[in-house]
Formats: sequence, structure tokens, C-alpha cells
Amino acid sequence: MSGSAREASAERPPATVAVLISGRGSNMQALAAGQGDAYRVVLVASDRPDAAGLDWAQAQGLPTFGLSPKGIGKPAYEAALDAALREAGAEWIALAGYMRLLSGDFVTRWQGRIVNIHPSLLPKYKGLDTHARAIAAGDRQAGCSVHVVTEELDAGEVLGRASVPILPGDTPETLAARVLVEEHRLYPAVLKEFVRR
Ligand code: GRF
Repeated sequence: MSGSAREASAERPPATVAVLISGRGSNMQALAAGQGDAYRVVLVASDRPDAAGLDWAQAQGLPTFGLSPKGIGKPAYEAALDAALREAGAEWIALAGYMRLLSGDFVTRWQGRIVNIHPSLLPKYKGLDTHARAIAAGDRQAGCSVHVVTEELDAGEVLGRASVPILPGDTPETLAARVLVEEHRLYPAVLKEFVRR
């Protein structure tokens, strides 16, 4: 780090990040563990109020927000989510196993401030079943990518990638477990850089 960059990071308060999850939230836990001078997690939100990750976040004393769009519709759901994010003082949003597509309106409101972790070496294998597709294609490497979220699925600027070998006999499950270890390393590291640039 240059002298001026060090001064800037010493002066700047940590960036404030909300993490959006839909399930177990292991990446959210890795992001929480990575909190420090670069960023703080100010909210953990979920579209599934029963998400296991919300229980973990609550037990850690992190502010949480759980709301399902079922019954109220996407516009009302996103309006409530947006209000909760602003109320929490979030400047950035990190999607971590958040299984819902955000609307164009929502993405525009948070333009360039939403990142996601995706379990493939983007631009390969956007969407679901990434590990099965990588194995079926005979790839020798798999991995994960952190990217900026745009309206188009898994298509924004790639901020960082980590690779793992695909081993003989790998199943989607064994490969997913190996990639997940890298996800937990990559995501906090990339987020720290991203909120500082
Ligand atoms: C991760 O593999 C992530 O890359 C993908 O969904 C999974 C979520 O896992 N988008 P977790 O909830 O972070 O444990």
C-alpha cells in the first residue's frame, strides 16, 4: 500500500455493508469474520425469514431483517428491503447465496454498489448447477467469482476469481465443498478492496 493509500484508509471510517442471504449463510459468516477497518456488516437480510443464516446472525448480535415476497409481491418486498437497508445505513450490498433476482429498478437504485459471489469461473456457467456443468464439460478447473451485480444474471464486472482442480471421481457435492472453501477466502478479500476503490 502506498503512503497516501495508507493515510486514506486510516482516515476513512469502515464502509457499511448489508449481506443478503437465502439459506445457511456460510459466505455471510465469512464476510462477518472479515469485518474490520475496511468494512462493517450493518445488516443481514433474507427473503426467507426462516433462513438458518439469520439465526446465526442474530446470535452474533448482528441486525437482521427477514421478509418473504410471497403474498406481498416483488415491488412491495423490494421497497421494504430498500427501506431496511437505508435504515441500517448500508452503503453496499453483498449477495451471499441470495437466490432471488433483484429487479432492474432495485439494481439501478444501488448502481455499482451490489456484489455477488457465484460458484463458477465466470463468464463460464452463469446460473444454476455450475458444478455439475463444469464436471459434465470435462473441465479441469472449477472455482468461484465475485462480480458486480447488474440487471443481467451473473454478468457484471468480475472483481476476483479463485480456482480449484476438478479431481477424478468428483461429484457436484465434493466439488462444491472444495469451491466453498475458496469462496470463504475470496469474498471478504475482494469486498475489502472493492469498497475502498
Ligand atoms: C454459495 O456456493 C454461493 O456461491 C452460491 O450459493 C451458495 C451459498 O452458500 N451463490 P452459503 O449460503 O453462503 O453457505
